[in-house]
Amino acid sequence: MTTTTTETAVRISGLRRTFGDRNVLDGLELDIARGEFVALLGASGSGKTTLLRILGALDAADDGEVLVPRARTIVFQEPRLVPSKKVLANVAVALPRGAATRTRARAALAEVGLERHVDAWPGTLSGGEAQRVALARALVREPELLLLDEPFAALDALTRLRMQDLVGELCRVHRPAVLLVTHDVDEAVRLADRVCVLRDGRLVTDETVAVDHPRDPGDPAFAALRRRLLADLGVHPTAQEIPE
Ligand SMILES: Nc1ncnc2c1ncn2[C@@H]1O[C@H](COP(=O)(O)OP(=O)(O)OP(=O)(O)O)[C@@H](O)[C@H]1O
Ligand SMILES: [Mg+2]
Repeated sequence: MTTTTTETAVRISGLRRTFGDRNVLDGLELDIARGEFVALLGASGSGKTTLLRILGALDAADDGEVLVPRARTIVFQEPRLVPSKKVLANVAVALPRGAATRTRARAALAEVGLERHVDAWPGTLSGGEAQRVALARALVREPELLLLDEPFAALDALTRLRMQDLVGELCRVHRPAVLLVTHDVDEAVRLADRVCVLRDGRLVTDETVAVDHPRDPGDPAFAALRRRLLADLGVHPTAQEIPE
């Protein structure tokens, strides 16, 4: 894997990943500009996590070219905090020890609204709070590429909406390139500059989200894009479910 140096944060070309006799990723092409927010949709088992793992250097491609920035972090569906470390130490984990790191970790926790929880144990946090710690742990590393693998999927609907707003806000401030994997079409359209659909190992959709901010699911442009994306995912909602 090589590091990108230009205005392009991610460049993927001809990416193949094979498990057994199945090409889970089969000639996938994707470029992400610096600061761009891309959402990736796809059926279960279509290879979304496989792609993220390759971008995060947790797995290797069988073929193709993958260029990513050196500074990149992944946030998973579950927070994966170290239970024996307090919240502040979890955020600072694997960073150089010292006052400067602690200050940065505190600032990251303040950004996700958890400044009062620096001395808490992970086991005492709610699901949403724990996921915000995971977000702070990612942010404190100042990633040029933020990889999010269904980071809100385990949260209740209200917390999920709040987390979406928080992530949108943090990304506008810090401007990492983002690849967000989600099953939630509305989440993708609310947050992303571009939405892609992965099917049969390739992107069958790669569309710029042309919906005005603040994005409202009742906006006809929002509804039309949702309908196209659901069709690409093989979901054909009844007319009753589609707001006009
Ligand atoms: N290490 C592995 N060994 C064998 N098969 C694997 C491995 N990792 C992933 N796969 C297979 O590759 C396919 C894609 O898996 P992946 O986890 O990328 O899907 P996904 O799109 O993230 O699905 P979900 O939406 O359910 O999370 C699946 O069929 C999975 O079983
Ligand atoms: Mg997955």
